[in-house]
Amino acid sequence: MIKKLKEGVYNVGAIDWDRTLFDEIVPTPQGTSYNAYLVIGKDKTALIDTVEPQKFDELKKNLEEMGIERIDYIVSNHAEQDHSGSIPMMLDMYPEAELITNEKCKGFEMDLLHIPEDKFTVIKENDEIDLGGKTLRFIMTPWVHWPETMSTYLVEDRILFSCDFFGSHVATSYTFAKYYDKVYHEAKRYYAEIMMPFRNFIEKNIKKVEALDIDMIAPSHGPVFDNPEYIINAYKEWIDPEPLNMVLIAFVSMHESTRKMVEFLADELEKRGVDVKIRNLTTADVGEIAMDLVDVATIIIATPTVLAGAHPNAVYGAYLANVLRPKAKFAGIIGSFSWGGKAVDVIKSNLSSLKVELLEPVLLKGLPKKEGYEKLKEFAQLIYEKHKEAGLIK
Ligand SMILES: Cc1cc2nc3c(=O)[nH]c(=O)nc-3n(C[C@H](O)[C@H](O)[C@H](O)COP(=O)(O)O)c2cc1C
Repeated sequence: MIKKLKEGVYNVGAIDWDRTLFDEIVPTPQGTSYNAYLVIGKDKTALIDTVEPQKFDELKKNLEEMGIERIDYIVSNHAEQDHSGSIPMMLDMYPEAELITNEKCKGFEMDLLHIPEDKFTVIKENDEIDLGGKTLRFIMTPWVHWPETMSTYLVEDRILFSCDFFGSHVATSYTFAKYYDKVYHEAKRYYAEIMMPFRNFIEKNIKKVEALDIDMIAPSHGPVFDNPEYIINAYKEWIDPEPLNMVLIAFVSMHESTRKMVEFLADELEKRGVDVKIRNLTTADVGEIAMDLVDVATIIIATPTVLAGAHPNAVYGAYLANVLRPKAKFAGIIGSFSWGGKAVDVIKSNLSSLKVELLEPVLLKGLPKKEGYEKLKEFAQLIYEKHKEAGLIK
């Protein structure tokens, strides 16, 4: 599907309506797209990024349909294969094309895609290429998503081709973002899974983006934003260091003991005016958990003791929170056991990268009894007080 952004600027990428999983981990319930942008100047034509190799035929078909016989430049903003994977095929199709990218990205693409060195033209920050009335300027935006990632700014049309930055996994027939509730949700999911670990870099990169005069943000997944402030403001909200007065309880329970603890704790928190999200680690969508992590002040991992350790799904939940490095300020561990083990140590070691205050764990023997529920009440009160001290409850 060819989508026009402005005169001489088209999205010629591919739509993946039925991709349901990304990177073998990230659910993509709305499908996705691999946007590749064609910029046609008076003298030269450039393609900005390509598509996932399985979708190369769609890119090829779009270019053929437009009668594009020559591409002078292929700009690669990011070496990850969902954008770069079709570059080798494009270079076969358009052997005259120079591959434009930064030094680091060149190294990655030589390793990942075996592209020969002589195909590359290396550019640096703020270098420009004139296509004839359309100027491409290169802006380094490291760590959104990989260390080599950059953006390309089309000066005359004021379009920022931002690659993964500001993207969302959404397959749409329309060109520009609309149905904003959905866009917000999927862009947040994308932020949570892909960008959250690099929050500090994002802050710097947003400043760079805001210094440009922008009409459109054209990411490489999902719709184009013709109101750039919408997505920039959403990102600012997500990177804001202040969490919400909310607790995520990510749990697993084999025989309901831990589940009873979780439900009781959630009730006690709600009674104290603390919002709660409960996610069952056996069935929950990883993306939804990641989205909770964008906001919450406290993360609770709830697990039974299994074969002297924690339940593997609880380990996975803790590990996930650890690698996504959310802004949470507190963490806790609760659970049920029968004869003993190291469930707490296992979960603790999987939370070691989080800059959180770890609250005293609550482990109960078997199905919770009166004293157990009392401990959970105290635990809820402690969380409430921590949130209050942190200024999250007014
Ligand atoms: C496969 C399996 C392994 C277990 N291993 C341990 C263990 O090593 N140490 C322990 O204290 N309890 C162990 N238990 C007992 C559970 O921790 C205990 O029944 C707990 O109350 C279960 O919580 P749940 O109802 O939330 O699943 C094990 C239970 C199962 C089913």
